[in-house]
Amino acid sequence: MNRSYLFVPADSERKMAKAIDTGADAIILDLEDSVAAAARPAARDIAREYLAGKQNVWVRINPIDTEDASADLEAVMPSAPAGIFLPKPRNADDAVLLATRLDELEAANELVAGQTGIIAICTEQPGALFSLHGYVAATPRLAGLAWGAEDLSAAVGATSNRAADGSWLPPYELARSLCLFAAAAAEVAAIDTVYTDFRDNEGLARYAGNARRDGFSGMLAIHPGQVEVINQAFVPTQAELEWATRIVDAFAETPGAGTIGLDSRMIDRPHLVQAKRIVELARRLADK
Ligand code: COA
Ligand code: MG
Repeated sequence: MNRSYLFVPADSERKMAKAIDTGADAIILDLEDSVAAAARPAARDIAREYLAGKQNVWVRINPIDTEDASADLEAVMPSAPAGIFLPKPRNADDAVLLATRLDELEAANELVAGQTGIIAICTEQPGALFSLHGYVAATPRLAGLAWGAEDLSAAVGATSNRAADGSWLPPYELARSLCLFAAAAAEVAAIDTVYTDFRDNEGLARYAGNARRDGFSGMLAIHPGQVEVINQAFVPTQAELEWATRIVDAFAETPGAGTIGLDSRMIDRPHLVQAKRIVELARRLADK
């Protein structure tokens, strides 16, 4: 269960060295938008070397229909990344295409078949929003769906994707919501997008808190200073855990009951589902 995924441009050995000590649950070496085209060949070599022997380091490759993507995958797969972040997929077929390439490259590099995960950044192309249900059962490699607003707003020609107070404008709230529901339907992690104002940790704490409230299980980070804030935001509070435990216990004590009263509040099945999820989440984070 990854709460924080820290993006690191793969052409920066300095940042890559720093990333290890940030406490990020996962690291994403970026070979796409944060690396200039001319720097990519060197970045691929740096990424391959960095990945060797490390746990939970992912790679963001270039869009799957580009030559860059093939070069990215050939460079990093010998070092067995935890998984691949797929940018700008046109639809879930692009994730399936990636899965097929991974089948070949795992075999060629004598890796365990299926060990490489996929997380698709599923809202970067306008057309992709109309087929997000395609991720359901698309490939067993799919570990999560993340979303992004920057490429989407550029694609539609918007002059901004945020309101003056920093909140998402309605078109991007829609994309965020669709990502959340698609991830739930596909039974994979829903990962909220980056908070770009990396000096505003109060705003980040609010944003990440809302992300967890809404059902996201993690979030993308771009700066070491964001990691701890995000990690904390995705841990259930003690009060939430106590309340959830009481609900689970109350149902266990009255088997067959569809609804119960607890502290003068009606509690029924959806609450039990949510409570079990919180208890399970707290258990998994405690095991970390
Ligand atoms: N991972 C690891 N270390 C990072 C880092 C990151 N994502 N971002 C910054 N750092 C390091 C810096 O190298 C610096 O260390 P140093 O003083 O030893 O050199 C320290 O953290 C503080 O950095 P700071 O000066 O506050 O930021 P900056 O101006 O150097 O960098 C960004 C700002 C946005 C360029 C940088 O955070 C970054 O590259 N983020 C990731 C961008 C990315 O991958 N985008 C793609 C997805 S949207
Ligand atoms: Mg981008």
